[in-house]
Amino acid sequence: MPDEDPSAWWREGVLYEIYPRSFADTDGDGVGNIDGITAHLDHLAWLGVQGVWLNPITVSPDADWGYDVADYTDVQPVLGTLADVDELIARADERGIRVILDLVPNHTSDRHPWFVESRASRDSPKRDWYVWADPKADGSPPNNWSSSFGGPAWTFDEHTGQYYLHNFLSEQPDLNWWNEEVRAEFDRILRFWFDRGIAGFRIDVVHMIVKDRLLRDNPPTTDDDHFMDQVKGQRPVYNSCRPEVHDVLRRWRRIADEYDAPRVLIGETHVFDYDVLASFYGNGDELDLAFNFLFLFAPFDAEQLRAVVDATSAALPAAAWPVWTGGNHDAYRFPSRWAAGNADAARAALMMLLTLRGSVVLYYGDEVGMTDTEVPRERLLDPVGLRFFPLYGRDPERTPMQWSAEPGAGFTDPDVEPWLPFGDLASANVEDQRHDPDSTLSLTRDLIALRDAVPELRHGAYSRRDAPAGVFAWRRGERALVAVNTSDATAIVDDVFGVVRIGTRRQRDGERLDGTLRLAPWDGVVVWLDA
Ligand code: NOJ
Repeated sequence: MPDEDPSAWWREGVLYEIYPRSFADTDGDGVGNIDGITAHLDHLAWLGVQGVWLNPITVSPDADWGYDVADYTDVQPVLGTLADVDELIARADERGIRVILDLVPNHTSDRHPWFVESRASRDSPKRDWYVWADPKADGSPPNNWSSSFGGPAWTFDEHTGQYYLHNFLSEQPDLNWWNEEVRAEFDRILRFWFDRGIAGFRIDVVHMIVKDRLLRDNPPTTDDDHFMDQVKGQRPVYNSCRPEVHDVLRRWRRIADEYDAPRVLIGETHVFDYDVLASFYGNGDELDLAFNFLFLFAPFDAEQLRAVVDATSAALPAAAWPVWTGGNHDAYRFPSRWAAGNADAARAALMMLLTLRGSVVLYYGDEVGMTDTEVPRERLLDPVGLRFFPLYGRDPERTPMQWSAEPGAGFTDPDVEPWLPFGDLASANVEDQRHDPDSTLSLTRDLIALRDAVPELRHGAYSRRDAPAGVFAWRRGERALVAVNTSDATAIVDDVFGVVRIGTRRQRDGERLDGTLRLAPWDGVVVWLDA
């Protein structure tokens, strides 16, 4: 990357999320591991990614697959050791790739020694590290907060006669971020990993960590609320997005800034209001990137995507940098969710993601157009999937990386059963696509290379371009134009003079446009406009 800006790696490069249990298994137990990531760094370097974000690798009883942490400064044995992490950082660094970890500050595991101590007695020195409250007079929970995973957010502890708060599973008690010792402990955890060379954190449910001190009831949702909030039936104003969270973010920003090489703070800001999203950037002194779930959960529809992108651009402070992603370990994969298995639509979505103004985070397998895998009930492992089967679950997007169509998928030994079943290997795998210039993998790699080569695509201003219904079109800087047809009808964009740099249908690469840009259904093009 040619830019002098030291933060260019996360601002302008491509980041890549790895679900470590599903990336590559080097010890034949059917579970991916850290060595497996190290072993595939050449793939990531070849693809052109600048940073990898690993879902939690710390010690966990796996009630929520790593998001229930029992030790923040050691590695889950099935994934490897601290020495393996050091090796990964070093080998990645040789290839110009940074390693970002997942930080889970909202809650711990109920088996974390802190919680074991906290629940031992009301006088425990760690009692106040978690959110404990008395029952109401009738014995019911202290307030109406519901868990993001369904049911009340409170569990009664018989032994000490109080409820503890858990915004997720009852095995994930919420920490009390009003407690200064908790804050200090996390300062130590951040520095522990930064000192090892970790380049940043993706911070789990960061908007939620500080709760209303008075534990007031959440109000009910109305028809005006985003459907993601309506599902829960309450507007999460008292158990999330409290103003005091910004103090914590500024504190973490100061710690990150102690290091010469830029450390990135990326928040899982699961919020559905643009101004609230923007607030997490602070005045350039909080998060570097705040994940945009309004975008992720928008349908793949030109008008609706444009509305989200325009509203995001309008809401973010001038210095703030957007981040776009089509999926993650909690959301169905975009080649299924947005594209319904239509490879052309998935390619159009990839083009959009890689050419909007902002950082982009790909999810492992996006580069080959991996779709969701149907996981039979007896193989489900996600606690949410087990609770809500068959309506919803997160196993379909967490299945092993499809390196090849051979037995074992290049993920594990040929005779080993992987922890989650393989998807449709023949339809999308790295080996088959790698040498095919028409493949989705080649398209992804070429789009990343184009982004690296063309400054406008890295930091050019975004401006919307009028286009017929069904087409999302925008300019980057003066000369780059992107147009994506999100419909199954052919569309014509007028007044386009230039050369197609990349088309989702690769036979269009290099095509001269003298006024009329014709887009077949689900077609996308990046055009270099005449001066
Ligand atoms: C958000 C994470 O992305 C998700 O996987 C997890 O279950 C919850 N937070 C709880 O940590």
